[in-house]
Amino acid sequence: MSVEMKIDGPEQAQGDQTGAQAVLGHESDRPEGGLKVTGAAPYAAEPCPPGMAHGFLVRAPGLGKVRLTNLEVVQGMAGVLTILRDDRMIRNAAQGTSESAPVQGVDQADYVGQPIALVVAESFEQARHAALALRVETAGGALVVNPQDAVATDDDIDETAQGDLERAFASSVHRIDQTYSTPSLISAAMEPHAALAEWDGDRLVLRASLQMLKYSRTEIADCVGIAPEDVRVLAPYVGGGFGSKLGICAEAVAAALAARQLGRPVRVVQHRRQVFEMNTRRSETSQRIRLCSDENGQLTGIGHQALVSNLPGEDFAEPVLQATHFAYAAPNRLLRRAVVRLHRPAAGSVRAPGEAVGVTAFEIAMDELACAAGIDPVALRLRNIPRDDPESGLPFSSHRLAECLTDGSRRFGWSKRPTAPRQQREGDWWIGTGMAAAFRVNSLMEAEARVVLSAQGVRVETDMTDIGTGSYAILGQIAAERLGHPLSRTEVILGDTDLPPSSGSGGSFGAASTGTAVWLACEELRRVLAGRMGCDMADLTLKDGYALCDNRRRAIAELLDGTPVTGHGHVRPGAARDKVRQATTGAHFAEVAVSDVTGEVRVRRLAGTYAAGRILNPRTARSQCHGGMTWGIGMALTEALIHDRRDGHVVNRDFEAFHLPVNADVPALDVAFVEDRDDWLGPLRAKGLGELSICGAAAAVINAVHHACGVRVRDLPATPDRVL
Ligand code: MOS
Repeated sequence: MSVEMKIDGPEQAQGDQTGAQAVLGHESDRPEGGLKVTGAAPYAAEPCPPGMAHGFLVRAPGLGKVRLTNLEVVQGMAGVLTILRDDRMIRNAAQGTSESAPVQGVDQADYVGQPIALVVAESFEQARHAALALRVETAGGALVVNPQDAVATDDDIDETAQGDLERAFASSVHRIDQTYSTPSLISAAMEPHAALAEWDGDRLVLRASLQMLKYSRTEIADCVGIAPEDVRVLAPYVGGGFGSKLGICAEAVAAALAARQLGRPVRVVQHRRQVFEMNTRRSETSQRIRLCSDENGQLTGIGHQALVSNLPGEDFAEPVLQATHFAYAAPNRLLRRAVVRLHRPAAGSVRAPGEAVGVTAFEIAMDELACAAGIDPVALRLRNIPRDDPESGLPFSSHRLAECLTDGSRRFGWSKRPTAPRQQREGDWWIGTGMAAAFRVNSLMEAEARVVLSAQGVRVETDMTDIGTGSYAILGQIAAERLGHPLSRTEVILGDTDLPPSSGSGGSFGAASTGTAVWLACEELRRVLAGRMGCDMADLTLKDGYALCDNRRRAIAELLDGTPVTGHGHVRPGAARDKVRQATTGAHFAEVAVSDVTGEVRVRRLAGTYAAGRILNPRTARSQCHGGMTWGIGMALTEALIHDRRDGHVVNRDFEAFHLPVNADVPALDVAFVEDRDDWLGPLRAKGLGELSICGAAAAVINAVHHACGVRVRDLPATPDRVL
């Protein structure tokens, strides 16, 4: 039995249907939280099957042709079982799709740090020792590694133009023309990339740390040359992904190939320093932004030209302009993105690809325009909210930016702010406030789920992952709500490709997409129960394990009569995509203190108000926003991957040198949600949330720095040397 739905229009929304249970939309703990904090939840690298061997990846220390000069010696070292060198192990599936992955060879280092071999040994220590003893030479690698040394070809340039920006700019009353830069950044998930491969005859079982299992399954099958049906990928717990686990990485392929060759289970975990260079980074960006307006701050022109990079042959290009297309109205527009080809580690999706850096630069530029025009930054944004999508003319499915800005200002106390910079001081510290809007595209992806209703309760099954986001919690809440069961009798099974294929976790679409599939599966079960009650579905109430209809009440378990019933839900994006523009919006407000002596910036307050459709669980939703805002603080003040100018290698490959914000850097974060229902997203009416909270958060901090001390930082991060 199955309920399928293609989302074609708003008529598929069914009101909130919060129902009798009051579970969905309410605060709820993570059901797996206890397992995680006690160490009982098995992550990819934790099981130790009998006979397991250990693999350690070997990196290219330079660019160009690779030569191993002491292979025989290392092969003879204690415990060494094999040294795997196979081009397939370094296939870079940055996109999480199987079509677009260029295959590079182990004999050619396209970037420093590229994996070029896997040393497998009896113990982890032996594998690492041998891997580090392997002498790797590279030669002939005079390759371009710096953006200023490269020129984009026509194939690598995208441009959208409307009206005449140059003319609008020349005749405008207020204008700014500035260039901003953001450095390479890294996902830095807490759990390093890890895989444990076991073959059962011709069938591969891969435990791995991945975000989107249905794609990973196809990719790994393709790499090792077997059918996807012969692969089972297991990822019940994932310690963060942030885009770096959208596609399979070297450790998974290498583990699978080595396990087949040796006839033993093989585990490969990336060393923390490998995590920093073997997986995709966020491209550095250079962004020229031109804004011009009339005397009231009404925008007449928007120019946004971005330069990003990637390896030759890679399809991914940081979508810097993604939000600029729809954020603000202006008749004259020029949006241009160019990709240069550099031999730095491959660029790919890192949390909120595009907007995280694009909105950040744009919202700093908006602050500069507000200063130039003498208009309050919130008022400037309110004045330029588009009624419809400025480029396509399509209506927005829902748009609550104005509410986010006004509610956010009120919560933060924005009106108390002195207009001019350098007005507030406490001892050696300048104090200032700043704000930025938040924008993020929204999409719904195909997803399937199965829900089994039995006398024991409700069981939800899908290959969805929980990468720290709260999938276990919200999918259980949806099923409990719709089927009238307490959460304590609702079980959620995730992270197994033997279960129905979900959307996976990526692009903030997981909750809405897979949640809708669970909802639809429950619809099927509700239809069955209505039939057994002899009533219309519309008259059926399910609550506390009972079905109610008219004046009749029966235990659901009794209606099942000893036989479990299974419902299958399947959602697909439909024509809605072409009829409306879907996006999420928000507003960030920051207060900072800037040391007049050292240039150090301390964030004292950071608040975010977001509109992202129906909030399924305010607790897990808030937690996502805490994460995004913390990314914003890091992006504003400390985070940067430093590439060596000579060979592009990542210099700061660990948490000692790559500075993530820690507790002492993050104040209490204030998160609020604006009531929003998106009728164009099917019955659940939820949008993606997690990534929205990083988009523009850094700009609020940077704008606050300017307000505090009058220094405008345009090259991120705002380290003390750039602030003084
Ligand atoms: Mo996300 S950067 O699509 O995990």
